[in-house]
Amino acid sequence: MDDNVIEAINLTKKYGSFTALSNLNLNLSGSKCVGFLGPNGAGKTTTLKIFTDLIRPTSGQALINGIDVQRNKKKALSDCSALIETPEIYPSMTVREALSLVAELRGIPRSERGSQIEEVVAEVKMTDWLDKNVGKFSKGMKQRVNIASTLIGNPSIILLDEPTSGLDPRGMAEVRDIVKSLKKKDRLIFMSSHLLNEVADVCDEVAMIDHGKLLAYGPLEEITDKFSTVDDSAEAQFSKPIDESINRQISRINNVVSVERIDSRSVRIKYTGGLQSQEYILASLAGMQLGLIGFKSSSTRLEDTYLNLIKETL
Ligand SMILES: Nc1ncnc2c1ncn2[C@@H]1O[C@H](COP(=O)(O)OP(=O)(O)O)[C@@H](O)[C@H]1O
Ligand SMILES: [Mg+2]
Repeated sequence: MDDNVIEAINLTKKYGSFTALSNLNLNLSGSKCVGFLGPNGAGKTTTLKIFTDLIRPTSGQALINGIDVQRNKKKALSDCSALIETPEIYPSMTVREALSLVAELRGIPRSERGSQIEEVVAEVKMTDWLDKNVGKFSKGMKQRVNIASTLIGNPSIILLDEPTSGLDPRGMAEVRDIVKSLKKKDRLIFMSSHLLNEVADVCDEVAMIDHGKLLAYGPLEEITDKFSTVDDSAEAQFSKPIDESINRQISRINNVVSVERIDSRSVRIKYTGGLQSQEYILASLAGMQLGLIGFKSSSTRLEDTYLNLIKETL
């Protein structure tokens, strides 16, 4: 059942004469992770703040499960939690103490708090740190505690505003893994990011925004198929040297556009047709008994789409 719905109807936010968000229409539903992708200043935080009633729209509506956030905040947000920008946690508190406070604020009965806290801390892989002071934690660990706090009360809809922002590469990777694992529990996650590779890695769908306007929304593959102007490409590596006649053989595989030699044991294959085609080409190459030992596709198409769409709004 599609119970989780986030919907924006003609959502507009003006700061004086400046339009930060312009007629945003978006309908997200189901159990998945949707990336809200756009460069700095695109209007991502503005949107997420409207959805949590931290700011009011100039016009339009923000609905969660069909309920208007501005009209009936408590009911609309009863099954939703959010992490907007990067909140600080009191450094002298332990993880357990910080989360107890959140649980109390959310009205979780005292008798259930302990077990809930242990559960959410396990979800963010911080069980070993439950009774340690937050003050000594790395930024990535603090952010995992922040994510744990959004899980208190087991909401089905979670809004995350650039959750990896300001983290080192390891912290980013850990937070991304956790966001990916959150999907397992039938949740709708709406995560903003200015990082294309992050959205491609973590999300099932992408909503692209720039200058307050929605540029495109859909499954990652569909968006790249629709807006990309370049072909997919992949690098294939072989255990033995590849000669010209084999190049020609590879170029006859369905959907292959060109085959270019990188060195004696590797070639770059350009192709059309997305993932399905990639799967077919890989299987065909393996079947040709050429000693295939590696096949790595590069995701230039999504980047191309992003750059194309953003260029248009400049
Ligand atoms: N309180 C405010 N007053 C004036 N302008 C603002 C305010 N908050 C945000 N903005 C402007 O609105 C635009 C969108 O901001 P924001 O939603 O924070 O973008 P993002 O989160 O995508 O980086 C930016 O140009 C920003 O400078
Ligand atoms: Mg922001």
